[in-house]
Amino acid sequence: IPVDRFDLVIFGGTGDLARRKILPGLFRRFMAGQMPEGSRIIGAARSELDDQAYRDMAREALEEFIDKDRRPKECVDAFIEQIHYVAIDATGTGGWSELAQTMSSDTVRAFYFSVAPSLFGALAERLHEHNIADSQSRIVVEKPFGRDLETARTLNRTLAQHFDETQIYRIDHYLGKETVQNLMAVRFGNVLFEPLWNSQYVDHIQITVAETVGVGGRGAYYDKSGAMRDMVQNHLMQLLCLIAMEPPSRFDPDAVRDEKLKVIRALEPVAPHDIVRGQYDAFNGAPSYREDVEDPQSLTESFIAMKLHVSNWRWAGTPFYLRTGKKLRARTSEIAVVFKDAPHSIFGQAEKAHRNILTIRLQPNEGMTLGVTIKEPGPGGMRLIDVPLDMSFADALGPEAGEVPDAYERLIMDVIRGNQTLFMRGDEVEAAWAWTDPIIEGWEARGDAPKPYEPGTSGPEDAQILIHREGRRWREIK
Ligand code: BG6
Repeated sequence: IPVDRFDLVIFGGTGDLARRKILPGLFRRFMAGQMPEGSRIIGAARSELDDQAYRDMAREALEEFIDKDRRPKECVDAFIEQIHYVAIDATGTGGWSELAQTMSSDTVRAFYFSVAPSLFGALAERLHEHNIADSQSRIVVEKPFGRDLETARTLNRTLAQHFDETQIYRIDHYLGKETVQNLMAVRFGNVLFEPLWNSQYVDHIQITVAETVGVGGRGAYYDKSGAMRDMVQNHLMQLLCLIAMEPPSRFDPDAVRDEKLKVIRALEPVAPHDIVRGQYDAFNGAPSYREDVEDPQSLTESFIAMKLHVSNWRWAGTPFYLRTGKKLRARTSEIAVVFKDAPHSIFGQAEKAHRNILTIRLQPNEGMTLGVTIKEPGPGGMRLIDVPLDMSFADALGPEAGEVPDAYERLIMDVIRGNQTLFMRGDEVEAAWAWTDPIIEGWEARGDAPKPYEPGTSGPEDAQILIHREGRRWREIK
């Protein structure tokens, strides 16, 4: 889908996100012909750089994050020509008139706030003071969107002083992942699944986001967040919403977000015994979590597993098990919809335990698989086996379908198109914090310590117990 000519200003333009995600993502869109002539990317940050120095930085970022055979030199050169830089003092006056002069007219103006949330207010204010932003401009804000309900409300109020909700794009990059969108296509584009998508047929749902990395150099940020704030309140919550929501009447931003909001509001409070927190240990010479964050007493969790209930007509009685953590066995993100047993087994006792499981894999190997039960081929009698009905995108669409676009490039283009469907609305973020806050407050009040776990495993043993005690088991992390 073509987009209009745009100026995208990246505040925090020299930062890690700009280098790792935003600039490479824009380059890929440029390669796909989605950066109309005259569009510009304007890096803005505190460092005193000129256009050339920033272009050099951008070129290095592309060299680091894009495969060599996907960045022909002449294309990189042409892309780099569209990049500019303005040194800016977010809280002061420096650079703002230069930025105003740099912006072209008759273009979509988008401002990416890839900076600490404490600067959102100052940026919003100055964009207006200097008439750089108007009622058509869009701003993009990154997570963390607050650290609790109160801070999120304050941020929402601050932004609302200068921008209408329709201009604010709160990024949750999980919503930009190809499979996540495909989940909506599969749910609402087929007649097959929706009739079964409820507690009558679904035994339980598992959402796993497992990572192999530790907190590495992000210790200072991470230790103040933990897995609950860093992953559950946003990414896992969004996945849960898309799985659990009612069909929206249209695929339109507010219709979709209204339904997601209803799911968050229907979440029951979680009892302490339905949550397991973990923290990775030292292993094979690699530092422990506490060493990584340089706090020998830290009580922050790098792993969390929990059982939730969505208290509404569709889901009453179907538990949702969520789990995420650092330094686990493999990098795997998947949602598994585990259907109930057939009501009666005509094949006798020995053949009872077959269940249909729909697995939606976010990464790696994006795709969906439906486990179906068939007869084992051969003359050995009526033996049942499970085989995957594989809907892997790479296989189904063939190599000409190209690379799966990165979440960021999809989302940035949606900003330029003015499509908010895959962005979080202010009330959604607040509702998610309203649900998260009492859980975290409970841990803090009780001084709960997370359970240590060995890196390279599936997390603490207690996480297994959480699900085993109900006769269920986690899917393997592999
Ligand atoms: C970020 C979290 O939002 O998501 C990180 O802050 C986490 O801690 C990352 O590693 C995971 O994203 P992805 O796309 O690699 O699964």
